[in-house]
Amino acid sequence: MQDSEQLTLFKDKPTLLSKRQINILHSSKKNGTAQDDSRSYLKELGIEIVENPQPIQFIKNSSEIVHRWSPYVQGFSAKFVQKSFDRYSDEYKDPVIFDPFAGSGTVLVQSKLNNYESHGVELNPLLHFIAETKINAWQVNDERFLQISKNLNDKHIFVAPDFLKSEKHFHHDVLHNLEILKGGIDAFQPAIEEDEKIKNLMLVAFSSILIDCSNLKRTPCLGYTRKKNVNADTPFILFRKKINEIAFDLRVLQNKYKKVSKKGFVFLANSKDFIHNTLYDLVITSPPYMNGLDYVMNYKIEMGWLGFADNHKKLKQVKDEMVVCDNVSKGLIKNFSVKDKRYTNNWIEDIKSKIQRSIKKRGTYRRPDMPEIVHKYFDDMYKIMVNVTPAIRSGGRFILVIGDSLIADVYLPTDLLIAKIGTELGFSIEKIEKVRNRRSGQVRSYRLRETVVTLRKE
Ligand SMILES: C[S@@+](CC[C@H](N)C(=O)[O-])C[C@H]1O[C@@H](n2cnc3c(N)ncnc32)[C@H](O)[C@@H]1O
Repeated sequence: MQDSEQLTLFKDKPTLLSKRQINILHSSKKNGTAQDDSRSYLKELGIEIVENPQPIQFIKNSSEIVHRWSPYVQGFSAKFVQKSFDRYSDEYKDPVIFDPFAGSGTVLVQSKLNNYESHGVELNPLLHFIAETKINAWQVNDERFLQISKNLNDKHIFVAPDFLKSEKHFHHDVLHNLEILKGGIDAFQPAIEEDEKIKNLMLVAFSSILIDCSNLKRTPCLGYTRKKNVNADTPFILFRKKINEIAFDLRVLQNKYKKVSKKGFVFLANSKDFIHNTLYDLVITSPPYMNGLDYVMNYKIEMGWLGFADNHKKLKQVKDEMVVCDNVSKGLIKNFSVKDKRYTNNWIEDIKSKIQRSIKKRGTYRRPDMPEIVHKYFDDMYKIMVNVTPAIRSGGRFILVIGDSLIADVYLPTDLLIAKIGTELGFSIEKIEKVRNRRSGQVRSYRLRETVVTLRKE
């Protein structure tokens, strides 16, 4: 057998390990930490990382008005955004906020709750739609919304997208009831302007229950699970629950937040070439992390059912535009490799050669083009940072929530590299705070981190 080795881990249970598993088993990074592997980089930057543990993940938003309308595993917490606003509230009196990776709109919604003008850019049409609905439907009459949502036509049946394997994702009866529910929403004909928003709210509610109605779960990648208590009525029960939640939040918004006058804007575009027409005081964002999470495929069910993709090619098109993750298509990396105008610096080159050597030593690796993938990630990030920098006021801040990576036993200090790029673009590194530990997906005992990098434009 060429690619695997017979190893007896337990006397009574011989186990066949793949070369990949053997590499992990013998990894030099076992029990290692990002902290140890960051020392030389930190020394060069002349900065230390401050410990500041805090709840940063989106899950915390499940009890926050508006944010909870649609869960987004790759999002961050509204509390973190609020803390950032509070920290600088003396310095910026009436700040304009920007998020180049708007996702489901956490920054935009929280800005609006503070009556701050905000702008966001998002590439994924599903997330753009969700973010836009979350910031632009605050005036909808909750009673009209409830009345329409609870009296949907059940004669118009939507047909589940045929490029998705819906019969595998959903139990037969559940699938049928989801098709009735979606058919009812589609059949609703807006009579007045407000009805368009009501329809959008219903679609957001519908998209947010799809995974809970399925045989799938996100942990954070989409995978099958058997441990679910789903029956034919689940779509109606969950939809009604979500609708009630949204109606409740609309009442809170119209009572407690009626003085909100500032607008939020979210654009369906690529942050690399988005044309900025505003000056920002605070940019708060979280770029995709350089890991195995597929930001588009993870939401293919919602994208398909809401009509934002009707085949895999369309999903791939969205993915190819994004800041790359380590499951990017091979063709895209091949094209990138022959480009002449690529951003680089000595750290990137050094990390690339270390990864190259490690892959050679291993003899095989999931993605032999990993050095180029890493390079493209920073090239993408550089272009986005270059594009937004002139639109940040002097004295303004660029705050990024970032996770680092371990690739073929080579540590990748993504946060420090972004900070280094920041210094090249005229920012000073104000702080780097570690908010939580993470585990490497490859070597589980290796401690990675999630940090908040605060850059200040001089
Ligand atoms: C980590 S998520 C941000 C989540 C967001 N903070 C929230 O709480 O909902 C990163 C987002 O960046 C988007 N994205 C990736 N590349 C992009 C690009 N070049 N331009 C605009 N958006 C991009 C992805 O679609 C994804 O939604």
